[in-house]
Amino acid sequence: MYVVFLGAPGAGKGTQAAEIAKDLKLAHIATGDMFRDAQKKGTTLGLKAKEYMEKGQLVPDEITVAMLLERISRPDCAQGVILDGFPRTLAQAEALDKALAKQKKAIDDVVYIKVPDAELIKRLGGRWICRKCQTPYHEVNSPPKAKGVCDKCDGELYQRADDVPGTIKERLKVFFAQTAPLIDYYTKNGKLTEVNGQGEMAAVRKKILDAVKKGKPGRK
Ligand code: AP5
Ligand code: MG
Ligand code: ZN
Repeated sequence: MYVVFLGAPGAGKGTQAAEIAKDLKLAHIATGDMFRDAQKKGTTLGLKAKEYMEKGQLVPDEITVAMLLERISRPDCAQGVILDGFPRTLAQAEALDKALAKQKKAIDDVVYIKVPDAELIKRLGGRWICRKCQTPYHEVNSPPKAKGVCDKCDGELYQRADDVPGTIKERLKVFFAQTAPLIDYYTKNGKLTEVNGQGEMAAVRKKILDAVKKGKPGRK
């Protein structure tokens, strides 16, 4: 089963994908996390990606597509994946469709998590992330039990370098210019469900789960 989570920066893709992947026993693949991991390791890929990420722009398609296709070919993805933050351009969506079609597979569902811009800005400005397990927290909406420490793994919490006002603005601009056309692309092929991403995290999670299971007899 292949599920895509589409949404602007701060929509809650990472928050929801981590939980729902566990529920549905799917791998959670986040291209942003992969690039940040490569940066931490100081690889060539990481250095290249950093040039774009620090400006709030997209990493070029050829780099991103190659990385993602290699990742989803690994054994832990055999039962399916939730893609968080990929695809982000029409070229990426087409490359993914083509690669899956070669294996007689296809994307099952696309969930568009919609949140108003003002709320996105508040969420990103107050976000803290675990260095070890990537769990996102929010200083007001979902604070950790102990300040600066991850509830799940005791890892250190940090604020992403691209979660600063100027870069947040650029990321939103890039989303509406380059990623929003995918809403139309996946609506036309009947895969998209729009979910209101505002409200309690657990309530949003239920709506997403319903969207993924909707109209699929036999799907648990
Ligand atoms: P990426 O890491 O994917 O960042 P993004 O798309 O900007 O999305 P975020 O991770 O910021 O938001 P999210 O939707 O995951 O929100 P979260 O759950 O954390 O990409 C970073 C960069 O990498 C890109 O700019 C680009 O350069 C590059 N890149 C990545 N993929 C690429 C691709 N395919 N092609 C090219 N380049 C690529 O939640 C946000 C906050 O809100 C948290 O604090 C959370 O606690 C809080 N929150 C969540 N849900 C709720 C709720 N219901 N109510 C209140 N608060 C909530
Ligand atoms: Mg994320
Ligand atoms: Zn952690």
